[in-house]
Amino acid sequence: MKIIRCKNYEEMSREAAKIVEAVVALKNDAVLGFATGSTPEGLYANLAADCKAGKADFSKTITVNLDEYCGLAADHPQSYRYFMNDKLFNHINIDMNNTHLPNGKAADLPAEAARYEKEVAALGYADLQVLGVGHNGHIGFNEPDSFLVQDTHVTDLTEDTIDANSRFFESANEVPKQALTMGIGTIMHAKKIILLASGANKRDAIATLFNGKVDPMSPVTVLNLHHDVTLLCDDEAWPL
Ligand code: GLP
Repeated sequence: MKIIRCKNYEEMSREAAKIVEAVVALKNDAVLGFATGSTPEGLYANLAADCKAGKADFSKTITVNLDEYCGLAADHPQSYRYFMNDKLFNHINIDMNNTHLPNGKAADLPAEAARYEKEVAALGYADLQVLGVGHNGHIGFNEPDSFLVQDTHVTDLTEDTIDANSRFFESANEVPKQALTMGIGTIMHAKKIILLASGANKRDAIATLFNGKVDPMSPVTVLNLHHDVTLLCDDEAWPL
């Protein structure tokens, strides 16, 4: 694993943007795997600013997102589709038809999971996957469990995650209890992965990664098996 230790959130976001833009510069129809949550917001702001300044071109870029809440429509302010449009897609020169997320409002959610897995596979999986990490070690919505799931699937969110994500909702009751998420196999198919970690509440999750063991109770540890992972970690999240 390559490690880029950053002073703070701003530096981490800038470094991440440089990597994303380098991938797109080398391959303008690259498939970028994106994540939601607070962590990549700074990265997306950098990409938007650089695109506006003419320093990055996303006109041919294709995107796939890790996950989506079950039951939230695209125009719900807490849906991940809304987040991506609001934080990134509406501010760059991307063709919206090339942006892919699972549909959380699908009538048949397992069928939607299978459809999305096929869609990502048909695109050849991500050239670069951006990941954040939950403080419990989850990636996408692959929650700690006694086993890891390979493909895109419907998952129950842990109380821990519902609690952590309730800050975006009026109350914890409004947080969906299920999500559609890429599986660990879908994520591991990415040719290159960058993992972003910022803040003291991510220190324990990063510590499990540094352990070198693959532990399904901390899903981020599977990244120890991937051949091209770069961790961008700020001082507060640094566990050593
Ligand atoms: C969310 C997302 C993850 C994200 C994580 C951390 O629930 N499903 O993809 O990495 O939680 O979020 P944050 O960056 O807000 O700490």
